[in-house]
Amino acid sequence: MAASPAPVPSGRVRVDGVAIRFPSSGGRQVDALAPTGLVLEPGSFTALIGPSGCGKSTLLNAVAGFVPVSSGRIDVDGKAVSGPDPEVGVVFQQYALFPWLTAAQNVGFALKRFGLANAERRSRALAHLAEVGLEGRGDLYPGQLSGGMKQRVALARTLASRPKVLLMDEPFGALDAQTRVSMHELLLGVWEAHRTTVLFVTHDVDEALVLSDRIHVMSAGPGRIVETLDIESPRPRRVDDVDATYLENRNRIMRRLRHAR
Ligand SMILES: Nc1ncnc2c1ncn2[C@@H]1O[C@H](COP(=O)(O)OP(=O)(O)OP(=O)(O)O)[C@@H](O)[C@H]1O
Ligand SMILES: [Mg+2]
Repeated sequence: MAASPAPVPSGRVRVDGVAIRFPSSGGRQVDALAPTGLVLEPGSFTALIGPSGCGKSTLLNAVAGFVPVSSGRIDVDGKAVSGPDPEVGVVFQQYALFPWLTAAQNVGFALKRFGLANAERRSRALAHLAEVGLEGRGDLYPGQLSGGMKQRVALARTLASRPKVLLMDEPFGALDAQTRVSMHELLLGVWEAHRTTVLFVTHDVDEALVLSDRIHVMSAGPGRIVETLDIESPRPRRVDDVDATYLENRNRIMRRLRHAR
């Protein structure tokens, strides 16, 4: 029997010399992102950290196809990004759920593109909710869920469209510290199961260190990448049980951020 071909790794993102300017009042332009390059390898977990206003969300939104680049190019698996694509999923800090739909209907919304019968759509939506620890909660509305639960629904909804790339913009920024820790565990579990390529924007150095394979530190706006760290320590990593390498990396990032202005 012939061996089946190895799956082609997908979800490779290439950002090449990308600068972004926005129109501003009086016909002027504001530079939001200085020319920036990075590569997200298939299945890798990369964090982007930098001072407020440095262009993190702008870069993420450009990879998502929401914001056009002013110069340079962004490719996903060799294809130039020209607009939103369901294979590139996004989770924002604000939950962005439809308040008039139940949790299962919110997730089911993302399944529409697969053209499933209603019953199949509901059963898949419930399976995605179970994957994020929300079994039995499918018929609740967003207003009946806690912040952490809403963010789980948002993650389940994004996963439902089977993204090759998962872009997350401070997804846990609005959650308390304990809920964040459980969301980190959940996210790493999901990432290990799906092996999507993740780009994760955060303000929080520990969050970046606990989650990522690679951390890019940006300068103040218009930002560019000023330092890149590869984090090789095995997961799970815990902020209450750190080693010397962790502290060294933490100090390096903190120093960079302090001098980023
Ligand atoms: N749609 C827009 N129109 C005009 N200017 C914009 C727009 N979006 C962002 N900017 C500007 O671009 C710069 C970068 O903003 P961005 O939201 O990317 O920063 P950020 O690094 O995500 O900040 P934060 O950490 O506070 O979320 C800022 O100066 C911001 O005012
Ligand atoms: Mg932002």
